[in-house]
Amino acid sequence: MEHLLIKGSNPLNGEVVISGAKNAVVAIIPAAILANDICIIDNLPRIEDVKCLEDSLTKLGAHCQLIDDRTLTIDSSTIKSYNATFDSVRKIRASYYLMGALLARFKRAEVALPGGCNFGTRPIDLHLKGFRALGAEIIEDYDAGIISLKADRLKGTNIFLDTVSVGATINIMLAATMAEGVTTIENAAKEPHIVDTANFLNMLGAKIKGAGTDVIRITGVEKLHGNEYMIIPDQIEAGTYMIATAACGGHVSVRNIIPKHMDSLSAKLREMGCTIEEGDDYIDVISDGRLSAIRVKTMAYPGFPTDLQPQMAAGLAKADGISILTETVWENRFQYIDQLKKFGCDINVDGRIATIRGVPQLNGAEVIATDLRAGAAMVIAGLAAAGTTKIGNIRFIDRGYEQIEYKLKALGADIKRVKN
Ligand code: EPZ
Repeated sequence: MEHLLIKGSNPLNGEVVISGAKNAVVAIIPAAILANDICIIDNLPRIEDVKCLEDSLTKLGAHCQLIDDRTLTIDSSTIKSYNATFDSVRKIRASYYLMGALLARFKRAEVALPGGCNFGTRPIDLHLKGFRALGAEIIEDYDAGIISLKADRLKGTNIFLDTVSVGATINIMLAATMAEGVTTIENAAKEPHIVDTANFLNMLGAKIKGAGTDVIRITGVEKLHGNEYMIIPDQIEAGTYMIATAACGGHVSVRNIIPKHMDSLSAKLREMGCTIEEGDDYIDVISDGRLSAIRVKTMAYPGFPTDLQPQMAAGLAKADGISILTETVWENRFQYIDQLKKFGCDINVDGRIATIRGVPQLNGAEVIATDLRAGAAMVIAGLAAAGTTKIGNIRFIDRGYEQIEYKLKALGADIKRVKN
């Protein structure tokens, strides 16, 4: 058992280099199954979700090898099994991409129901609806916690997503890549990791057009081949450091990012009183730590990301005035607010709306990470608070943030990982 110990109130200054995007790499590793060949994946973030997926692919029979800290080779030609019902699959959410990938490659898949962060019901009905439309028969065994998929052939079709879903868009794209004919996904999600997954598949020989818009058109191909691919930078990790700088005050250059991906956050930080300076692959955040209250509503990309909502709540806790934070993507993503209140935050939640009355000071507290981004919010609150903060359950944070304490320490934070 480990925890993070933070002595707060230091301003943050310097440079932080952002790692490869978690939500892109967790789709791209399963997508490598389609290659039936060797893929080389660069800019790999060393986070627990990636290790979990490496483990799952290895158990399926792939040869996964780290060439160096940032580069993973996956030889998927040695995969003979379509049965992914082991524990590493149950640990994370993104293992649902094994359904689309194995179905595309073998026309069969048996996959354990995915785990991951718990913020209300997280259905996968749209994924399954898409697979069925492509011709798969599906048995959902919720007692055993296994989904079985089988198709004689997969045939392209038109699929309209009732709700904009990142996971369903990518999973259907995976399954359709080697289907016969043309598949159109309408009302598709447009997140940067969808574009990255489509770019990866296209590098392997797929024919996917329109990723990043709400209509994606996939012309099925018979087979793919291996290639080398560089994962995009992590929009949410970058945003976490940007909000931390805004809350603590200081001047941080957030490096190795795509500034366009940060537009919705940059606009909000400017509204809060920060100076944001953009370069080709970096953003400088300059803050005196005195922030103004704002209104924020989470939306699918290019709107404000739900995955930055908890960090923003922590960032607004000391802002001058009353902020309103509305969550529109997940039904129950305010579970962490009780933890945040331990710092002295004045927050009231009513359904999907949190009202945050800025307080002059936060005080260090003993808290836990209730999920990945909630954990990041606790780190931001601890950095901005006076006194000492102890954060437990940090395995959640390790799922998505590479070396968070080293990166923050280099910016001047007093933070360390302690074994109980
Ligand atoms: C992805 O989850 C991300 N995870 C999440 O990030 C992120 O919060 C979410 O997209 C929204 O941006 C990964 O990419 C691995 P959705 P996903 O399908 O794909 C409803 C993080 O912290 N829905 O876009 O599971 C659903 O209930 C994680 O990094 C259905 O109704 O999310 C939700 O309200 C947490 N039926 C909405 O759609 C379905 O079949 C969006 O969910 C699927 C989804």
